[in-house]
Amino acid sequence: MSPVIDPDLQQANQDAEPLPIGERLVRNACISRAQMEEALAFRARQQDDHKGALIGKTLIDMGYITHPALLDCLFHQLTRERVAYHLDRQAETIIRFTGVEKTLDGRKVLDHLDLEIPANKITAIIGISGGGKSVTLKHMVGLMKPDRGEVWVGDQPLGQLSTRELNRVRRRFSMLFQEGALFDSMNVLDNVAFPLRETTSLAESEIRRRVETCLQEVNLGGMGHKYPDELSGGMRKRAALARALVTQPEIILLDEPTAGLDPIIENAIHYLICDTFMRTRYTIVCISHAVPAIFDWCHHVIVLHRGRVLASGPSLEIRYSADPTIKQFISGDLDGPIQVI
Ligand SMILES: Nc1ncnc2c1ncn2[C@@H]1O[C@H](COP(=O)(O)OP(=O)(O)OP(=O)(O)O)[C@@H](O)[C@H]1O
Ligand SMILES: [Mg+2]
Repeated sequence: MSPVIDPDLQQANQDAEPLPIGERLVRNACISRAQMEEALAFRARQQDDHKGALIGKTLIDMGYITHPALLDCLFHQLTRERVAYHLDRQAETIIRFTGVEKTLDGRKVLDHLDLEIPANKITAIIGISGGGKSVTLKHMVGLMKPDRGEVWVGDQPLGQLSTRELNRVRRRFSMLFQEGALFDSMNVLDNVAFPLRETTSLAESEIRRRVETCLQEVNLGGMGHKYPDELSGGMRKRAALARALVTQPEIILLDEPTAGLDPIIENAIHYLICDTFMRTRYTIVCISHAVPAIFDWCHHVIVLHRGRVLASGPSLEIRYSADPTIKQFISGDLDGPIQVI
């Protein structure tokens, strides 16, 4: 597959040095330097280290910038990084599948799957429904085990680890399940606090503070007392996303974080994922049907088809792929190699 690089983007990448978001906003004339300094001073007064990282949110709260302008700026930065990634293919691999096979109910769902997830990038996994995306994600964290082949996290082969070692590896992950999987008997606050209570010894006051901050980020501020059956489908999805982000893990697996959400909230969730990445540089793997929007905010894209990798590479390469199956998937045409009706 020949790489497709926009020459303007390539030039922009060469010209630009990495900038923090606030500085980038000033350079793009989205805010004045005085406004940024005021926002920084306000942020410092908060004595809140988590909020402290969210200069963009502070600027929105102070009315200095709108949410879409910030989103544009984040996407611009991601685009630049994506081009950099294009030029440097040597990204380290954090998760590797070698010849993974899995048969479920007599059907071969993963068919000698070889796959690599680059470290410290946002990777999207796309593909038609039933192609094995969720099953793949569950293998990454050891929730499903291969019939054949091996799943590696760093240099550790999951199939050869003791339960204790596997649990240690799992702590590096958090996962948003496709179906949300909130505990019905717990309110939102306890649901989101659950992984913190299970895996840390933080004081209850600190746990509540982190949970409330996370809930505000997904637009569920003040909703901690609600139970899952009192929430809409989209609100449940956002509560589950807050639970996946609250522990600030090294590897975040998201199974369709925006499915069933209205376009504004979908945009806000994309912003949250980009912002989380910009602040932390964690590895994010995200299954999504949000095509073509997904290409705007992921570095790397893997197309999974019939339990195998059909294509894998920087998102621009996949976006403009000449492969007829990928083209049909992106365009949604009924005519093509994928026959659904
Ligand atoms: N626990 C299970 N037991 C039996 N079959 C399963 C199980 N989980 C998944 N499958 C089957 O494996 C195949 C792939 O399922 P998977 O959930 O990975 O699809 P997907 O690519 O995530 O689809 P979608 O985009 O609709 O979520 C499907 O045929 C599904 O019925
Ligand atoms: Mg799925």
